[in-house]
Amino acid sequence: MSEDSDVVPAPKLRLALFILAGFALGALGALLIFPTARAKLLPAVNVRSVGQALIGGPFTLTDHTGKRVTDQDFRGRTLVVFFGFTFCPDVCPSGLQVIASAIDKLGPKGERVTPIFISVDPERDTPAQLATYVQSFHPRLVGLTGTPAEIAAVTKAYRVYVQKVPDPKSTAGYTIDHSSIIYVMGPDGAYRTHFTHATSADVIADRLAKTL
Ligand code: NI
Repeated sequence: MSEDSDVVPAPKLRLALFILAGFALGALGALLIFPTARAKLLPAVNVRSVGQALIGGPFTLTDHTGKRVTDQDFRGRTLVVFFGFTFCPDVCPSGLQVIASAIDKLGPKGERVTPIFISVDPERDTPAQLATYVQSFHPRLVGLTGTPAEIAAVTKAYRVYVQKVPDPKSTAGYTIDHSSIIYVMGPDGAYRTHFTHATSADVIADRLAKTL
């Protein structure tokens, strides 16, 4: 056995490095050229970026004073976002009451929070209809409505379930089934946490205080 048997002879090493470099260049080329290859080769990166953007996103809507607003207008504010409609018999009023009382429990800290009610019933929820409604819950509650397309876009962005169903008892002939999640969005517009309309005001206030 020679003394240098564990050392790779230089020509073979060069060849191995050359082949490795070839593979690396090929992979790099594939990443640059094929977006699908990139998606397959970098799943972890993609999952992370999608995960952060799962709930929320840009919107353009009309507030209860008739003013056009976008999500950008609320940057710097912690938002408590709730979807519903003014003709909702019970879930929406109780959810809004819980939000209003949670914000009041926070005292001066609560002034950094903007509660937002986004209508899932743009046909009936005009700005004027929303104005009367939001003022009955909290002086700073912002009501937002829009065209059916704008509402469809924002409910999709927030993963809100909305289903119009016939209702002979309603004068309009329909009611709306909807999920009743209360979303907390940070001053940067990103999703922070969520509650349901059945979460107590104390629990919401405690958890909101930690994000402020
Ligand atoms: Ni409701």
